Amino acid sequence: MRVLLLGAGGREHAFAWKISQSPLCEKLFIAPGNAGTSQCGTNLDFSVSDFDAIKKCCIDEKIDLVLVGPEEPLVKGITDFLISDPRLNDLDIIGPSKIGAQLEGSKAFAKAFMHKHKIPTAAYGEFTLDNYKDGVVYINKHELPIVLKADGLAAGKGVVICENYVEALAEFELMIQRAKFGEASKKVVIEEFLQGIELSVFVLTDGKNYVLLPEAKDYKRVGEEDTGLNTGGMGAVSPVPFADEIFLKNVEEKVIKPTIEGLKADGLEYRGFIFFGLIKVGDEPYVIEYNCRMGDPETEVVIPRLKNDFLEMLVAATKQELNKIKIQEDDRFACTVMAVSGGYPGDYEKGYVIHGLDKVDTAESIIFHAGTITKDGKPVTNGGRVLCITSFGDSIFEAVEKSKEELRNITFTGMSFRRDIGYEFE
Ligand code: AMP
Ligand code: GLY
Repeated sequence: MRVLLLGAGGREHAFAWKISQSPLCEKLFIAPGNAGTSQCGTNLDFSVSDFDAIKKCCIDEKIDLVLVGPEEPLVKGITDFLISDPRLNDLDIIGPSKIGAQLEGSKAFAKAFMHKHKIPTAAYGEFTLDNYKDGVVYINKHELPIVLKADGLAAGKGVVICENYVEALAEFELMIQRAKFGEASKKVVIEEFLQGIELSVFVLTDGKNYVLLPEAKDYKRVGEEDTGLNTGGMGAVSPVPFADEIFLKNVEEKVIKPTIEGLKADGLEYRGFIFFGLIKVGDEPYVIEYNCRMGDPETEVVIPRLKNDFLEMLVAATKQELNKIKIQEDDRFACTVMAVSGGYPGDYEKGYVIHGLDKVDTAESIIFHAGTITKDGKPVTNGGRVLCITSFGDSIFEAVEKSKEELRNITFTGMSFRRDIGYEFE
């Protein structure tokens, strides 16, 4: 098969690493990819939002299957765009339709969907300029803290948790009246704050069936013990010790099955991954958010734990035959630790040479590149999250220690990483 993978992060390197191991893979292209993906296939020089270039590549390179990594092209309708061209009748795409991707693209859409299909989530109200005054009344009557969410995509920055009314009202005004997040905050969801412990659960669905992938927990704050600013993710672990069999069964019955059934009932075309951002309140799962893609860096622990032929799974999804796939997981713990550029998640410099990649013991650990690019034959930094190291162990502690040990081999100017990934499970 000839496969085109869209994206450039650690998630895409993990996908490319796994797909390139499949006997079904004849040729793998990654657009635009990074210095790591170029070891698994051929990188192509166009962005995930250049729909015309993507279409041209599918035609010229006789692509059989497109796997879409990030949410942006999905929310903008890449799937609908490609399938509407009769020249691409035989093309299969893993990634939902534009309307299916609204599960991530619009918080208000996702909340209404959950409400309709009785999927547990925080109570909420939805406001625009038209009912702005109602929003002010809603905030003043709300218990603290208050969670404000820009409706649309805001590069992971659209959620603000306010500890007092003054802050909540100011934030509400900024979002709606002053377009703090542009179009994305023309509508705002205000919701109840849920107190609990978070985890991520993933399925691949063909619209009819689904397979449950290994669950994971990511570490979003830049500082140790979850302090400091939010990032794209500083590390992840899988499996998650508190997600036992009973809890995961509960998640399937109360969250996953009603979501798949709801998509079907509402006629929302969906062939792809659903990422359930969950919070465990007491023993009960609540949905904090849906994403229409896999998580990053969660994928860098989920994919290495997957023993199945990943491409075979994707093909089964395109044929609505996921009922024939039985997921096989590595029982060991996997962790990944992300090395980031100095200053991240604020301003940072790019273009520093990355040394020592060849010293990493690849029998025990896997290097997944994120923000890297090849320049003059050398890997150099090209983003905030630069690369991560995934390792296995019989405990989370053991896996994390191995990743940290291997990271000691790697250097680039300004590099840092969290040393306490998985700390609460020690
Ligand atoms: P999101 O962008 O929807 O993933 O939200 C970002 C983060 O805000 C989540 O990972 C949670 O830590 C937090 N969050 C979002 N909604 C809530 C909520 N209703 N209660 C508590 N925390 C929340
Ligand atoms: N790690 C969180 C995300 O991918 O959205």
